[in-house]
This record gives sequence, structure tokens and C-alpha cells, in this order.
Amino acid sequence: MNFKEVLIDKYPYKVINYSNVFSREKLDIGTRFLLENLPQNNYKYVLDLGCGNGILGINLKNKQSDSIVYFSDESKMAIQSANQNYNLYFKDKAHFFWTHSTLGIKQKFDLVICNPPFHQNNTIMKGIAINMFKDSKKVLLQFGALRVVANRHLNYHIVLKKIYGNVKLINQNSKFVILESINK
Ligand SMILES: C[S@@+](CC[C@H](N)C(=O)[O-])C[C@H]1O[C@@H](n2cnc3c(N)ncnc32)[C@H](O)[C@@H]1O
Repeated sequence: MNFKEVLIDKYPYKVINYSNVFSREKLDIGTRFLLENLPQNNYKYVLDLGCGNGILGINLKNKQSDSIVYFSDESKMAIQSANQNYNLYFKDKAHFFWTHSTLGIKQKFDLVICNPPFHQNNTIMKGIAINMFKDSKKVLLQFGALRVVANRHLNYHIVLKKIYGNVKLINQNSKFVILESINK
């Protein structure tokens, strides 16, 4: 296990990472861009899908203290890290699922946030990400939102438009896009 400190909104966060957890050494630049583009609305039920150390869900909870946050990841160490990190900052209960995508999660959500797995143009990873977008639709409430960060070249706006019938470009930089689809 290692500790690192990351600065978010100029506020230092201590984050626990068990070995092999994504972005163990430093904050991923895609994650940072999504952190800068978290939704402002007050969402009650939130799912941090593919949560890694839980940094997205924890940050959202920090901004929206009434939110009830669920974390899911297929990596056991990621879920352990997210659980411990959450408990460093909050006293109320969150929900942790060591599972494949949304499997076994019965709750419906107002918001799903996701920095999906990626590896350049790896088609297996792309398939996993696309399945996560499809699964998100099944666990979103009507008018619930899926917000993702992705490498520009993956063209996920086309995929999301196909699944949800709508997609909005929230922000972009030279490397990433932030996309949002609504479950209408
Ligand atoms: C790009 S990382 C993002 C981690 C974290 N949300 C962040 O932004 O730092 C993607 C995460 O998805 C998880 N993952 C990959 N495939 C998955 C699947 N099928 N179901 C759930 N989680 C998965 C990985 O273990 C990894 O933690």
C-alpha cells in the first residue's frame, strides 16, 4: 500500500493506493480533466464506475455532501483503496461493489461518472468501455446522466449517441473530451 498526496481545488487529498491500482503513482491526466469538469447539479445517487482509488466519487461527494455514492471496480484492490479513501474523508455510508461493470447493483442512479479503461487503440478495452456505457443506461434513472472522460481519438461521441440517442460535448482539450449523455 502507498500514500500519495494530490492537489484538487488547491486542497491536498491524501489517497491510499494498493498495488496495481490505476494511477498509483500520480493523478492520471484524464482523471484530472474529469475532476475539473464534474457536474454542478445536485445528484442524489451517484455511481463511480471503474472507480480505481475512488477519487472521482470522493470528490463529487465533497462538492455535493447529500449525495449517496456507489463505487464499482473489477479490481479488488481498487475497491479496497476506494473504501479506505472514502472513510478518510466521510463518516456516512457509501457502497462498494467488487464486480464486473454494474453487475449486481440494484440501485438506480441520477449520475454515473466514468473514466473508462483504455489502452491506445486496443479494441478489447474499447469493447469493455462500450459495455460500461450500455450497462450505465440500465442503472440510470430517467433523465439521469452519464458523464465520461475519453481520449479524443476514440470517438466515443458516436458510440454514446448510438446508445443514448444524445450526447453533449461538455469540454475538450488537446487530448481529451468530456462527454455527457442523458437517459431519456
Ligand atoms: C482508467 S481507470 C480509472 C480509475 C479511476 N476512476 C480514476 O479516474 O483514477 C479504469 C478503471 O476501470 C476498472 N475496470 C476495468 N474493466 C472493468 C470492468 N469490466 N468492470 C469494472 N471496472 C473495470 C479498472 O480496474 C480501473 O480501475
